[in-house]
Amino acid sequence: MKVHHVGYLVKKMDPSVSMFESIGYHIEQETIYDPYRKINICFLLNGTERVELIESASEDSTVAGLLKKNGIGPYHICYEVRDLEKAIDGLKTKHFVITDPPEKAPALDNRKVVFMYHTKIGLIEVLEERK
Ligand code: NI
Repeated sequence: MKVHHVGYLVKKMDPSVSMFESIGYHIEQETIYDPYRKINICFLLNGTERVELIESASEDSTVAGLLKKNGIGPYHICYEVRDLEKAIDGLKTKHFVITDPPEKAPALDNRKVVFMYHTKIGLIEVLEERK
């Protein structure tokens, strides 16, 4: 599994995008709305390092509770895999549990992603490779 991005929860998208730009990142993909998760997402790149900024767009978004509980900051690392189902099966044998079942990610060309949690390392996201 190779790292695709680090996901940051932010309160307001624009000032956080500007902050990343001021430390060497540039926008890879302008902010788009993800209706499955009710969040806005912007990807930025610095060389090969990629961050994903996530802003809650609704009180019942997938990140609204987390934002209230933990505030802003990095909260997941996303790994890219060739075969998502196989990766999920493998992670389950290592006692990862699914927190958000596989669903299309509009911000990632509708590739499927899944969120999984492990008691020893916390939350990860797993993304299927471009076909
Ligand atoms: Ni992510």
